[in-house]
Amino acid sequence: MNKRIFLSVLALAAWPVWAEDVADSVAPEGQTALGQVSLPELAQAQAAKDAGRPVEAEDWMVVAAHPEAVATGAKVLRAGGTAADAMVAVQAVLGLVEPQSSGLGGGAFLVWYDGASGEVTTLDGRETASLSATPRLLQDEAGEPLGFFEAVVGGLSVGVPGTPKLMEEAQARWGRQDWTGLFEDAIRLAEDGFTVSPRMAESVARDAARLKVHPDTAAYFLPDGAPVTAGTRLANPAYAKSLRVLAKEGSAPFYTGEIAEGIVEAVQGAIRPGALGSVDLALYEVKERPAVCVPYRGFDVCGMGPPSSGALAVGQALGILSPYDMTGLGPENPITWRLIGDATRLAFADRGRYVADSDFVPVPVEGMLERRYVTDRAELLKSMRALETVEPGEPEFDHALNWADDEDRAAPSTSHISIVDAYGNVLSMTTTIENGFGSRVMANGYLLNNELTDFSFRSHRGGVPVANRVEPGKRPRSSMAPTIVFWKGEPVLAVGSPGGSRIIPYVLTTIIAYIDWQMDVQAAVSLPHMVNRFGVYDLEEGRVSEAMKQELEALGYQTNMRALNSGLHAISLEGGLRGGADPRREGLAFGE
Ligand code: GLY
Repeated sequence: MNKRIFLSVLALAAWPVWAEDVADSVAPEGQTALGQVSLPELAQAQAAKDAGRPVEAEDWMVVAAHPEAVATGAKVLRAGGTAADAMVAVQAVLGLVEPQSSGLGGGAFLVWYDGASGEVTTLDGRETASLSATPRLLQDEAGEPLGFFEAVVGGLSVGVPGTPKLMEEAQARWGRQDWTGLFEDAIRLAEDGFTVSPRMAESVARDAARLKVHPDTAAYFLPDGAPVTAGTRLANPAYAKSLRVLAKEGSAPFYTGEIAEGIVEAVQGAIRPGALGSVDLALYEVKERPAVCVPYRGFDVCGMGPPSSGALAVGQALGILSPYDMTGLGPENPITWRLIGDATRLAFADRGRYVADSDFVPVPVEGMLERRYVTDRAELLKSMRALETVEPGEPEFDHALNWADDEDRAAPSTSHISIVDAYGNVLSMTTTIENGFGSRVMANGYLLNNELTDFSFRSHRGGVPVANRVEPGKRPRSSMAPTIVFWKGEPVLAVGSPGGSRIIPYVLTTIIAYIDWQMDVQAAVSLPHMVNRFGVYDLEEGRVSEAMKQELEALGYQTNMRALNSGLHAISLEGGLRGGADPRREGLAFGE
């Protein structure tokens, strides 16, 4: 590997510049500009991010995908709110200012460390398929998979949104602030208007043809037929109205009542109408699941189990890498990336066969993470070249495991929130509407998800069922990997990312960068991406050197230079708080 070339690519990397926009849009201290959540100190957070430095704090910290969301979370934390309180405020604002990624029409997974009890809890706010859904939902009349966007755009792919209930459940368990007040900033921004960010404007412009399909969606994102542009002030009174209902009445009307009716009407009236009905919404539950924790070099890495494949795949890959000296090899060595890439491929092979909603399919969680099994898988990496073929293994389990392999179609969108509060609680939550702008169907001022396309489009292969096939009431498999890392029981790192199934390698390499290469969180989230899930090595365009590409090709990989839009948001808790926000997106870390 040519270290000099690699490092020069790192140094020259150009990021979207958002600093001026933040500075311009922040009101002078003491004043609140129309629609802005006033927090002038965010300019310092932006400066730290631009300089590649972590943001430092002592008591609390929030990292999220948009400065307005960070500002509202910071205000809640500054006023003595918990991480759960702050998450509610952050999510409410994100649903407005980053509508392409997450919102009240989507789902989320939340990992919580409780500072008082030392317990880790994971909450599943994943969407569910309608009770009328069948394994053929995503197929044409001949039983062939629909084209991806044929399935995405319209009512067919909309699952029951879990986010409103998850927000309420988390705040009821761990919040201290008055629920109603947590929505004030989001309501004001929605009523007065917020400033459209460059990233949102770019996303709208790129997706204009699909956003046009539904009149409400077109009217909001393409007023007068043209995409909203960066810097435009955009108000969303319908979203403000929904937030007022959520603030006053809680999440109940989102599942039975006025808001729920709006969802059913929109889904059933959309192109390719979905079958989602009132009963599906009324039956929705947030589920507490067992956390999946794996040991790695004395640390414990804890995250979200099924229906997410996130913690399992990250955990398997870490287990496979454990026997190898990742510290000694370092981040600039192609051998390092052969090991990481092939460990990830092995984990993805198991994920494709075994992981689905564990309420419907027995998932061999323990067997997949069992030391002997993972060590056997690690042995496969002993050759000096890329694995020629990768097959799922045979983890121990006490059920028959005769599943056909799933294929991967998840596309990148989604958003990650990391928060530490002054009480020692840590929250790591990944939140999504699946594809950028979800199903493109809007109801009640927000976009509805297309999460059902995270199911396998094929229900069977050669007569063998796919574990992640559509079934009534089932939750589609996810790749979201909200994670908290512990050292001797104390939390040391909260991290997660958007990015479809690339979330898994994004989070994996950030953990390795933090633990093995002892990078600070900002350096860890900024590391150039090299991602291998199914054989082809995706290399981050403009950031990974030609020399590295050639070295990986010499090891036997096909490579593909492309944009890799993670949105890693991390907080480290060792010797004070340090926050890192992914330079590929508009987010910030801020704390005090
Ligand atoms: N829809 C993205 C995921 O759940 O992985």
